[in-house]
This record gives sequence, C-alpha cells and structure tokens, in this order.
Amino acid sequence: MTSCGPAQGKDSCTPQAINLEFSQKYDLDHSQHYFRKHRASLSRRLSTWRELGIARRALALAGDPCVVLDLPCGAGRFWPMLAEKPDRRILAADGSKEMLQVAERMQPRNLVERVERFQCSAFEIGLGDGSVDNIFCMRLLHHIIEPSHRLAMLREFHRVTRDTVCLSLWVDGNYQAYRRARLEARRSKESPQNRAVVKRQTVESEFVQAGFRVKGYFDFLRFYSMWRIYVLHKE
Ligand SMILES: C[S@@+](CC[C@H](N)C(=O)[O-])C[C@H]1O[C@@H](n2cnc3c(N)ncnc32)[C@H](O)[C@@H]1O
Repeated sequence: MTSCGPAQGKDSCTPQAINLEFSQKYDLDHSQHYFRKHRASLSRRLSTWRELGIARRALALAGDPCVVLDLPCGAGRFWPMLAEKPDRRILAADGSKEMLQVAERMQPRNLVERVERFQCSAFEIGLGDGSVDNIFCMRLLHHIIEPSHRLAMLREFHRVTRDTVCLSLWVDGNYQAYRRARLEARRSKESPQNRAVVKRQTVESEFVQAGFRVKGYFDFLRFYSMWRIYVLHKE
C-alpha cells in the first residue's frame, strides 16, 4: 500500500467519452430524492446497513487501502464508512455536479472537508495512472448494459487504480435475478432498459479481459439477492 500522504496532483476532468442516457437523470431533484430514498423506511435503512457491512468487508479483503476513490460517490452514502480508517485519503467523484452538491450539503461538515471531490465520468476519470490504491464503485455497473461499455469502464479503472477495485452489480444465480428475468420476458422489447442482471461467468471474464483477477466477493443475501460486491486485484 502507498502511505496516506498529502494530496497528489490531479488533472482536471476531460469530457466524457461515453455518455449514457441514464446518467442524465441525476439533476438536483433526482439527486435529493436519491439521498432521501436510502433513509426513507426501516427496510431501506436495514439494506443500507447490510450494504455498508459487506462493503467494509470488501475493503478489508482489498487490504484496507489508504487512498480510495469513491466513484460514483452519489450523495456520499459511503463516506462515513470510508472515513472509519483515520489515515485514509478519500477522493470522491461523480458524473453529476448536482449529486456532488447534495453530498456536500447533506454530509457532516468534517467529512465534506476531508473528502476531495470532483466531477468526472467513470469512463474518463482524469487522474494519472495508478494514482489511487482502490476504486470503490457502488451501484453503477448494473446500469451499464453494453458489454463494450463495461469493458471500457473496467479498463479505465485498471489504468487509475494501483492495486484493487471494489464494485457492486447485479448477478445471476439467485432468486431475485430469476424473478427479474421473468419480468423482463413479459416487458416489451421496445422499452429501453437502464439496469440489467449480468451472468457471473460473463462479468468475471470481462474482469480478466480488463486485466483483473477476482480476489473474492460478498453477496448481499446469498441465493436471494442480486447484489454482489466483487473485490478485484490488478494483475
Ligand atoms: C445509483 S447512484 C449510486 C451512488 C453511490 N455509489 C451510492 O451507492 O449511493 C448512481 C450514480 O452514478 C452517477 N453516474 C451515472 N453515470 C455516471 C458516469 N458515467 N460516470 C460517473 N458517475 C456516473 C450518478 O450521477 C449517480 O450519482
């Protein structure tokens, strides 16, 4: 691990190379809604608690990285957990400047001061090669439907991380994925999809193509939930 020293220089972000339709929806209204959604009910709070728990274990498996890029950071849901390691340097980026504004407004002041925030596309991060120990990417990959787009993103992660990536997505081989497949079969082929379950075998071979090895994974609820966090190690 690199030591958690002072901020290294970072380039300004270049224009997004791949512009997905779903990425456009995170305006101020939607961003505020996203922040509230995860706190709205007991079941949401329980699910966040579980998600934080497996994310913490994923980071431990990744070697408790010192320099973490939270991308996309959304409204900063994971910042308190990422900050549990006192000497960790936390960078946080998102494609939506409104999401970053909501995070800045809603997260505790001491965290906002600690986290280095910037806007960028996950396809073109705008940091130098190997500039962070870990990219922490929660709830983005299930929105990336095109395999070529997933590969482009994974290659950009491979360039920017020095060591590991923790990422979550929807995988097959569980009850929720089975139910979703039945729903999709009933849906009109015309209606555009902005979220998808990916076969484990498919995504794991994409990880290898992008230059990663699977170090381990954590399921939200084994055999039931579609959510899985993978820990990838850069080869
Ligand atoms: C479902 S939210 C997840 C946010 C956060 N990781 C969490 O779990 O709370 C998806 C986020 O991805 C961001 N996003 C969408 N497309 C992006 C892109 N191409 N590059 C970077 N961020 C993007 C959105 O602005 C939004 O904040």
